[in-house]
Amino acid sequence: MAAGRSKFSNKFGFIAAAAGSAVGLGNIWKFPFEVANGGGAAFVLMYLLFCFLLCFPVMVTEIAIGRKTQKNPVGAFTALGFPKWRFLGILGIIAGIFILSFYNVVAGWAFGYFVQLSLGNFDIGSQFGEYINNIGRVGAYAVVFMLATAYVVSRGISGGIEKASKILMPTLLGMIIILVFYSMTLPHAFEGIAYYLIPQFSEINFKVVYNALGQAFFSLSLGMGALITYGSYVSKKDNIISSSALITLSDAGIAFLAGLMMFPFVAYLSNGDMASVEGGPGFIFTILPGAFESIGPVVGRLVGALFFLLLAFAALTSTISLLEVPVTYAVDELKIERKYAVWFIALFIFMMGVPSLISSGDSYFFTNFITYIGNEKATSFIDFVQHVGSDTLLPLGGFLITIFTAFVWKKNNLNKEIETGYPGFKGTLIEKYIDFAISYLCPVVLGVIFLLTLLDRFFGVHMF
Ligand code: PFF
Repeated sequence: MAAGRSKFSNKFGFIAAAAGSAVGLGNIWKFPFEVANGGGAAFVLMYLLFCFLLCFPVMVTEIAIGRKTQKNPVGAFTALGFPKWRFLGILGIIAGIFILSFYNVVAGWAFGYFVQLSLGNFDIGSQFGEYINNIGRVGAYAVVFMLATAYVVSRGISGGIEKASKILMPTLLGMIIILVFYSMTLPHAFEGIAYYLIPQFSEINFKVVYNALGQAFFSLSLGMGALITYGSYVSKKDNIISSSALITLSDAGIAFLAGLMMFPFVAYLSNGDMASVEGGPGFIFTILPGAFESIGPVVGRLVGALFFLLLAFAALTSTISLLEVPVTYAVDELKIERKYAVWFIALFIFMMGVPSLISSGDSYFFTNFITYIGNEKATSFIDFVQHVGSDTLLPLGGFLITIFTAFVWKKNNLNKEIETGYPGFKGTLIEKYIDFAISYLCPVVLGVIFLLTLLDRFFGVHMF
């Protein structure tokens, strides 16, 4: 089985694909609105700390398990000799399906904005509410997006995923850098940057902490076996530590750049009054078209279309990885041919996304889907799926995987797998840090934050 398994063609191919999975709507759509939602620079700081201190060791572990077993997240636990832990893989697949179902909807919005701004329709920003409730139109964009995702995944690892990422990722980096430079030249850019970079520690509360943690896991594609899956296609010669470091750096780096690009635009539009800034899913969609319009009809149209094309590219390399997880499972475990697995699963997840598609006003039931205990306002289906799929299940997955590695599979087995591509690993400082993080820091911090998040978000019990 393992002998016939396809592989990324080299280390760069793997890093491009994994960074492609990591960099997505999470960085460019979600990160700026989470910053604006609460915390400003304090949120940025928490996010960066979580990425490097907690998430990086989890990433190393996931990739190592994938590469050791050459299996999907469910089969991996059986291959290691612990079939009882298969539930963790199943949990990951469920989280991935939840996430892709709403992610594809937002990716469709972004793709539609690319079309609208290419046509010079700057009014789309003020019409965002109507736009997302024009179900026929956003539904069609979501269909196109899922088709593109399924097409790439159906072409397999090196011919599809790797090839697309190697082109899309550097293009994206180039586009974002151009936009950062451009946004810096706008009036009031400085106020935006100050809001983004000078932390007000009084802004930190528990909500900022758990949002930053959820954001770090979501952004790095951790906690659901995406990197076990990608790791299963990695060569034994690759150095997992340096690959993980590069993936973490690119992801945090692009989120950081997205903020640098976004906040000068926000400050420009609000005439420097950053106190009035409020985040939310419509953040970039409502704000940016107006900002692009004021740049001028031709350049603004170009910059605007470029921006949303960038967002769609970033989303595509992530939806690919989200779909690849259940597909690898179906191919490995259920012995279904890749091309059938891809189209069937894509259709299933698309259908699961329909309630998200209609939950921004179109359907009363899905717009007011659930009211958490202790909350007055109802939560829409699309938000509920995010709260469960990404904010809850991903940190839970991260917590359980560190417990599994430290106390069941054992640290020396992890070390052995890392050493196959990095013979000098033993005795390094990084080895000691990963040992400490996997055995103590991650289980304790992730476990505690997970429990408190559950209480705070869903049951109205606010401990802090
Ligand atoms: N990391 C992606 C983003 O930031 O947009 C989202 C994501 C992709 C989460 C793949 C989880 C995953 F497995």
